[in-house]
Amino acid sequence: MLVHIGRIINKQMIGKYAVPAFNTSDLEMTQGIVRAAVAQKAPVIIQTSVGALEYAGAEELAGLIKQEAREAKGLFALHQDHCHDFSLIKKLINLGYSSVMIDCSHLPYKDNLKLTKEVVHYAHKRGVWVQAELGRILGNEDWQNVKSGQDLMTVPDEAAKFVAQTRIDTLAVAVGSMHGIPVDPRIKKVLSTLKEHLDLKRLAAIRQKVKIPLVVHGASGVPDHQVRAAIKIGVVIFNIDTDLRVAFNKALRNNIKKNPEIYDPRKLFKPATDALQAMAEHKIKVLKGNNKARGPSRT
Ligand code: G3H
Ligand code: ZN
Repeated sequence: MLVHIGRIINKQMIGKYAVPAFNTSDLEMTQGIVRAAVAQKAPVIIQTSVGALEYAGAEELAGLIKQEAREAKGLFALHQDHCHDFSLIKKLINLGYSSVMIDCSHLPYKDNLKLTKEVVHYAHKRGVWVQAELGRILGNEDWQNVKSGQDLMTVPDEAAKFVAQTRIDTLAVAVGSMHGIPVDPRIKKVLSTLKEHLDLKRLAAIRQKVKIPLVVHGASGVPDHQVRAAIKIGVVIFNIDTDLRVAFNKALRNNIKKNPEIYDPRKLFKPATDALQAMAEHKIKVLKGNNKARGPSRT
């Protein structure tokens, strides 16, 4: 069942469990995500990046996700990930997205504030939630490539001011996670020595001052115990992309290697979709989102 994100993100869940926001860009990833949510009876946010929309087409991909979600037993919300194009956001709201991210974290505070307020004004008139980001998350994600030293952790007082001035619904925080898999050997080296990824003290300080739902991006690669600690502090959404793609990719390559005679993409992709589903189910369980998809569903 496709529902408004407000049906999935609520006060009761804070400190107890969290919901994954899984990225998709095609049929197989969408099927794997939906099947994982149904198998775990878990509410899930399905999100598209700007790159995914360019790859599959906005109408096509939104249509596919909505259809898969409508036919499935469970609770699904449709969200747009990192987007700095207001006209694209308007188009996606018209396509039925119940939540959108305006990401101007690369701009100075006053410019981030200005455009975020405009998007909130437009979206709230149409009952749509808005996510924004304050601080800069390290790593590669779609059109963003934040190098070491360019990343900026979220400042608690500034976050409180930003939320009050913009009236956004969810806040993406930069607290040490990074987008994607480190390609830069220097970052790889640094990360290999780091025990902890998330700055939990900073996260708790932000939580003290910011009462709206908090979102951790770049959740692929963050150790499970860190994710659990962040949930206890109050994070309710974890954005996960790379770990699903890596699982899909690994299984696909194995299948091609083991079965060179297979040429039908449906047969090639099947084990890859299953592997993605298994990874998504694992992430749902780490977030303790399993058996939380309550309330009226389709059947
Ligand atoms: O917005 C999407 C996420 O932040 C994905 O990050 O690829 O590191 O899981 P990830
Ligand atoms: Zn992200």
